[in-house]
Amino acid sequence: MAGTDNEQARKVAEALAYTTGFGNEHSSEAVPGALPIGRNSPQRAPLGLYAEQLSGSAFTEPRERNHRSWLYRIRPSAAHPPFVRAGQGALRSAPFTDCVPDPNRLRWNPLPEPAGPADFLDGLWTLGGNGDATQRTGMAVHLYCANTSMDRRVFSSADGELLLVPERGGLLLRTELGLLRAEPGEVALIPRGVRFRVELLDATARGYVCENYGRPFQLPDLGPIGANGLANARDFRAPVAAYEDVGPVEVVNKFCGHLWTATYDHSPLDVVAWHGNHVPYVYDLRRFNVLGSISYDHPDPSIFTVLTSPSDTPGLAGVDFVVFAPRWLVGEDTFRPPYFHRNVMTEYMGLIEGAYDAKAEGFVPGGGSLHNMMSAHGPDRETFDRASAAELTPQKIDDGLAFMFETRWPLTLTEQARDAGHLQQGYDDVWQGLQRHFRP
Ligand SMILES: [Fe+2]
Repeated sequence: MAGTDNEQARKVAEALAYTTGFGNEHSSEAVPGALPIGRNSPQRAPLGLYAEQLSGSAFTEPRERNHRSWLYRIRPSAAHPPFVRAGQGALRSAPFTDCVPDPNRLRWNPLPEPAGPADFLDGLWTLGGNGDATQRTGMAVHLYCANTSMDRRVFSSADGELLLVPERGGLLLRTELGLLRAEPGEVALIPRGVRFRVELLDATARGYVCENYGRPFQLPDLGPIGANGLANARDFRAPVAAYEDVGPVEVVNKFCGHLWTATYDHSPLDVVAWHGNHVPYVYDLRRFNVLGSISYDHPDPSIFTVLTSPSDTPGLAGVDFVVFAPRWLVGEDTFRPPYFHRNVMTEYMGLIEGAYDAKAEGFVPGGGSLHNMMSAHGPDRETFDRASAAELTPQKIDDGLAFMFETRWPLTLTEQARDAGHLQQGYDDVWQGLQRHFRP
């Protein structure tokens, strides 16, 4: 049956239409005439729908930071029974206080397959994070491994937006604002509070999630780069309105770190029309316009920033999402792999496919590494030796897609991440054997 479900979901996913752009005001209606014209809250909304505003920012935040959408739905979200506490598996939330922050370099193999049937929500496993979900600061790193679609249930996080980074298996995301397809190599964002269901397009699905408690991700400023480059706004795709009129549906709500559940007599994915800028989106990382040096050295990896969650301090992000995509290396008299580094920012890295140019082995798709605040890292011995002797002809790095969640605060692990069987032992050894070459 699961295979048939995957095929049905794939058929739906392959026929999807989108609206494009980043941060703009989208509008969409699944039924002609469902969207009111010229006002948001008419005395009687069209087609007998209810008008409802979903606010992702305070009403009074500056216009460029203001996030909200107007939803025209079959039933208002307010019509629901009480939520009760639910079990939350391996999902954890900030503040993370079970472990002390660890200065060691750490690396994990991929999350093990679930023992039984597990949908996306069942399969969420928290590695760690920082900040405090109740203060809307910081972030969490989750991984997921699922083998079944969410059925008759939806999820949302009041604590933050969710950036999904599939590594294995495509996803069909049914959200309040419509449907998105996200394959490995693409990322999808579910805004704070937006309800969604994950259906699998393949037998299994595995990947990473950044839960950003802070300000919503935005495109980085480009400064002297100019008006174009890095992730271009036109390549972001938002859904068009789509609704379902079914029930009952379990609604799972992540609120201040805990899961709460209620069974509605209807699906909350019943939005027939909407407009606004608090919207889910998907982005194909292969569209990223990779920029780099055409003389010597290489820019800091911030040049690879896809999305940034700014803080109130200019240039200091709560979290950046950074991609290491296929690119040419042409630097003269330059050590071309990523340099040795100690960083006040904390770096969690994952690998979507292939290999990463600073690590010859051990860093595998679905795995991850953590280089916490000020911990020393960089190329392994083999990479250092090879790159130091390489002939500096133009070189294409084209066999990997790695990414980084880079955050301003140290990342504290969960107990399950610290004690995980898939935590690699001896990661420090990759920097052993770096020879003394000093010749005074
Ligand atoms: Fe680094």
